[in-house]
Amino acid sequence: MKENMLVMNKKNFLGAVCVAVAFAAVTTACGDGTTRSTGLEFSRNMYDPIAYNPDQPNNNFKNKQTAQTPPAGTDPIGFERFGADFKNTVEDYTRAGAEVTNPLPVTKENLAAGEHLFIANCAVCHGKEGKGDGSITKDRQVTDSRGTRKLENFPPPPSYAQSSGANSSRGGLMADLTVGKIYHTIYYGLNTMGSHASQLNPEERWKVVMYVQELQKK
Ligand code: HEC
Repeated sequence: MKENMLVMNKKNFLGAVCVAVAFAAVTTACGDGTTRSTGLEFSRNMYDPIAYNPDQPNNNFKNKQTAQTPPAGTDPIGFERFGADFKNTVEDYTRAGAEVTNPLPVTKENLAAGEHLFIANCAVCHGKEGKGDGSITKDRQVTDSRGTRKLENFPPPPSYAQSSGANSSRGGLMADLTVGKIYHTIYYGLNTMGSHASQLNPEERWKVVMYVQELQKK
């Protein structure tokens, strides 16, 4: 009996606290209609950013604006010059092939990284040696709850290798593709090959291009 009383008291007490808090919140939240005061503010410095907002006036600059126009000829962070300079057309593919060079030096490390990226991103179609015999171009089957089925074969890409004498569908030997053409293909894709721009950042693409050049010599 005594225990029950205690439990009841506890409940009543908690109820009273809740009502008091709610009442206090309601009465203190409203102004009297004449004051612009926001009342008690917790952690005022969290409302006022230390940095300037882009649309704030700023005396540090001659034109008194925070957001400045970038100097001519600069690129925003993450902006890719290649996509702006070369479009997905045969003309721009040819032009990239003539104008663009690999900015990375040929080193053991870059080639090893290129090989790794090629095996991870390209070999499934192009094959480890770039001979156009990747695993999805071959007969495969899958077994699951619906039984065993044959999977469709992906049309094999032409081999890069000099010895194969294979031609690009855009003309010329695959082994003669210049770095700019290979980069353009990674960037935009070609027919059944999709763009690989989102899988590889520019530096990684150049490493893959470097490795494809090795495969062209085979
Ligand atoms: C889904 C399969 C697939 C993947 C993955 C793939 N390719 Fe291809 N690639 C192809 C096919 C198919 C072609 C031939 C397209 C055509 O000529 O119609 C091709 C063509 C090419 C060409 C020749 C372009 C030309 O001008 O003829 C290059 C270079 C190339 N791929 C590089 C790469 C690189 C590098 C990667 C990895 C980053 C890659 N590919 C990933 C299927 C693939």
